[in-house]
Amino acid sequence: MNFQISEKLKNLPPYLFAEIDIAKRRAIAAGEDIIDLGVGDPDLPTPKFVVDEMKEALEDVSTHQYPSGAGLSNFRQSVAKWYKKRFKVDLNPNNEILPLIGSKEGVAHLPLAFINKKDVVLIPDPCYPPYIGGTVLAGGEVYRMPLLEEEGFLPNLSKIPKAVVDKAKLMFINYPNNPTGAVADMEFFSRVVSFAEKNNIIVAHDAAYSEVSFNGYKPLSFLECKNSKSVGVEFHSLSKTFNMTGWRIGWLSGNKSVIQGLLKVKSNIDSGVFNAIQKVGVVALENKKGNEHVKIMQEIYSKRQKVMVEGLRDTILNAIPTKATFYLWCSIAGNVDSTELTKKLLRKAGVVVTPGIGLGPSGEGYIRISLTASENELQEAVDRIKKHFG
Ligand SMILES: Cc1ncc(COP(=O)(O)O)c(C=O)c1O
Repeated sequence: MNFQISEKLKNLPPYLFAEIDIAKRRAIAAGEDIIDLGVGDPDLPTPKFVVDEMKEALEDVSTHQYPSGAGLSNFRQSVAKWYKKRFKVDLNPNNEILPLIGSKEGVAHLPLAFINKKDVVLIPDPCYPPYIGGTVLAGGEVYRMPLLEEEGFLPNLSKIPKAVVDKAKLMFINYPNNPTGAVADMEFFSRVVSFAEKNNIIVAHDAAYSEVSFNGYKPLSFLECKNSKSVGVEFHSLSKTFNMTGWRIGWLSGNKSVIQGLLKVKSNIDSGVFNAIQKVGVVALENKKGNEHVKIMQEIYSKRQKVMVEGLRDTILNAIPTKATFYLWCSIAGNVDSTELTKKLLRKAGVVVTPGIGLGPSGEGYIRISLTASENELQEAVDRIKKHFG
């Protein structure tokens, strides 16, 4: 039997990477030497002190049962301490922090808590796709806020039509930004807070890349901004900070009514984060080896970025240097669209990238490179791109 998927699922945008994914798998199966700069998944392992801690946490039988939905008090306290130290922001661990099974889970479930049919969710364009998926599955309407190079890849709030603003209930923003690598300053965050206060909109700031930054630059937390907690929340994750994408742990912090809403959704859907992983999270956030790891990680990505930005000069790709994230957003020279170029890069150079259009209409004219490969591999990718597209 062939069952029909729900109308909501039908409304989800098509998976634009499917064709490229098939081509990539075909090339790998044919034994071709592929350099994959498409996915945003760190190639480096989780730090050893974290893995060692996990071995111990697994031996502790108290971790083996269902976790509580609100999460371990110790983990929430660690998050509060980390916020205080890193951003000088005070959070109440009892009601302003909610552990998540990775931040993606929280991002995708948040609209279910606050969005009624036809409510509008303001979403950056291009963006991390679950903002769209979560909105559509909740029955909401997506309004894309273009992120333009000439505006520093920050959404221009004054350009959102009044009729849209009136129906908007939630806005996602994400800095340091995937895919553009752009960062936000306090002035932008203040504008967002005023806009949200005036229009009664929840702000969900996704700070998954807050620790992936270079040359001493320290990305801001949205919650550092005055009155931000009255309108918004912030997503964080251990995935990119500690190369823990497979472990699934993140959190939401900020406005307690938003936290309460998401907790209610999650209590009906999942059973929380494995306690052993939360215990490990405490160590990752509090152990000074964590800071050492972050510094090393930042240096590695910084060097990789240099290889790529310098190497790609005078090619079809103009890589925009960034202060943060392990992505390079590259504008395409000439009249080639991003899907076509992505296919050609794979066919001719054996290099996998992400076409900008796959992340939203305003991504057309760009491709995204993930710096999640060794310097040698990146150099090899540069050489091949130069050879075929120089
Ligand atoms: C902007 C952004 N937010 C959130 C996530 C999800 O991270 P995780 O679910 O692993 O915490 C990602 C992952 O790529 C991302 O790029």
